[in-house]
Amino acid sequence: MRSPAEEEIQLRTRDGQLLPFEPSRWSARANEDERALLADIEGPVLDVGCGPGRLVAHLLMNGITAMGVDPAPGAVALARERGAPVLQRAVWERLPGEGRWGTVLLFDGNVGIGGDPVVLLRRCAALLGARGRVLVELDAPGTVSRHVEVRIERGEAYTPWFPWATLSVGDAAAVAARAGLEVTGVCHTAGPERSRRWFGLFGGPGGCMQRCDLRPALTAWPALAVERARSPVVAG
Ligand SMILES: C[S@@+](CC[C@H](N)C(=O)[O-])C[C@H]1O[C@@H](n2cnc3c(N)ncnc32)[C@H](O)[C@@H]1O
Repeated sequence: MRSPAEEEIQLRTRDGQLLPFEPSRWSARANEDERALLADIEGPVLDVGCGPGRLVAHLLMNGITAMGVDPAPGAVALARERGAPVLQRAVWERLPGEGRWGTVLLFDGNVGIGGDPVVLLRRCAALLGARGRVLVELDAPGTVSRHVEVRIERGEAYTPWFPWATLSVGDAAAVAARAGLEVTGVCHTAGPERSRRWFGLFGGPGGCMQRCDLRPALTAWPALAVERARSPVVAG
């Protein structure tokens, strides 16, 4: 029999589906794809829902000013042990540097925070400086964007239900527009389609970014236009 510590942690919707959930990744270091994605982003960077702070730690090590925000005390303690500056707050609360951040990160499903990506992206837009951008991890094209209620389960233990959402590449442009933003680039990691991770860069309308400048280690997806995106995407 597995001890509670060995039980797998899962994210389950009310209708019983499991959503991608990878706690082991959060405590690891930023992986090669993530390092490539973060290599050229503008600081200062605010990592929303930073968990144990691995992205913040990586950015700081590379000389980019960064801070995390996360309301979970356990995550904040781990981040601080790593030397990552993290504020124990929800993204909705008052934050330092509002209107001045160069990049806001929403990695690993965090676009689902609060259950409505339009509301979350509006909040992120208010955090950005004039040329700032939000780097958002998205679900693969062809998947359905959802508003759901979920809970975190570990063995017999579980949290109360809370609102969550998913956002697919195909819906990114429409959702961005409702939040007053534009999708200026979409990339995916290399490798087999099933295990690809997708990322979108969202900026202010008419913002500075005219092309996908995410690293060539990642592959831009020129077919985005087919998926109802309005913004230009050029292979990096
Ligand atoms: C998927 S995990 C974090 C993974 C982390 N971004 C990474 O890539 O390593 C989601 C995090 O979002 C945090 N979170 C949930 N609601 C939040 C809110 N309202 N504001 C900020 N963070 C929140 C959770 O506490 C949790 O640590």
